[in-house]
Amino acid sequence: MSMNDDELDYLETRGLTVDFDGFKAINGVDVTFLQGRLHFLIGPNGAGKTTLVDALTGLVKGTGYAAYGNYDLLSMKSHQIVRAGVGRTFQTATVFEELTVVQNLDIAGGIHRKSRQMLRTRRGIPTYVEEALETIGLTRHKDRPAGILAHGQKQWLEIGMLLVQDAKVMFLDETVAGMSAEERDETGELLKRLAPSRTIVVIEHDMEFVRNFADIVTVMHAGKVLTEGSVAEIQANPQVQEVYLGRSVEGALND
Ligand SMILES: Nc1ncnc2c1ncn2[C@@H]1O[C@H](COP(=O)(O)OP(=O)(O)OP(=O)(O)O)[C@@H](O)[C@H]1O
Ligand SMILES: [Mg+2]
Repeated sequence: MSMNDDELDYLETRGLTVDFDGFKAINGVDVTFLQGRLHFLIGPNGAGKTTLVDALTGLVKGTGYAAYGNYDLLSMKSHQIVRAGVGRTFQTATVFEELTVVQNLDIAGGIHRKSRQMLRTRRGIPTYVEEALETIGLTRHKDRPAGILAHGQKQWLEIGMLLVQDAKVMFLDETVAGMSAEERDETGELLKRLAPSRTIVVIEHDMEFVRNFADIVTVMHAGKVLTEGSVAEIQANPQVQEVYLGRSVEGALND
């Protein structure tokens, strides 16, 4: 999307609701995700985090209001939303394991193939794929099958797939789950580098990661936004502690 250069991109919802046969998995959610900051979305299992992203990416039907710039997301099909620059990862990996890293990126970038196919390097790799490889730190591994990558590297490849799709909004659903502490730090640094020019929303249970990298945190519970604020604010909020059933926020978020 091209907005004015001096204007920050944002995606916002008002009264966003997802009804599964009478059960409101999302119930009147108002949230604004703004370019330039790492926005974390937390909440207990079943809070509605993934369903919120599903509704914003055309995978489930949402009612209410959700817009990215001039795009009315609730009236768009998922492929149109991808083309508008809104991308997401899934809680389970979606890379093609038998294909190489470059092939995965090439396929993911396919939605822009027409405008980009001329810009190939001498080795036949599109320029934007090379750039994505650099950004996610997988240049050395570009010709390896994705299936033999380490867990963290696979997740970075998923982020690379969003980069080659030109995603300006990225929803990352539990991307650092199962990563080593070192991989988590590298991921956080990567997201910090990406954030200034993008709107990044990170769904995460690991409170240490949230503490280290969140600029703002939205806490969901039972389909609603419970509260929003800095890490310090949400950690000090008694309501937040309550929804984690009296256990420490720390312990609950690390489940
Ligand atoms: N297709 C569906 N039909 C009916 N109910 C659903 C459907 N998808 C999700 N739900 C329910 O909606 C609620 C929210 O689920 P969701 O997956 O969004 O939670 P979450 O916050 O992502 O949880 P987690 O942290 O475990 O990933 C849950 O009660 C879930 O069982
Ligand atoms: Mg989820």
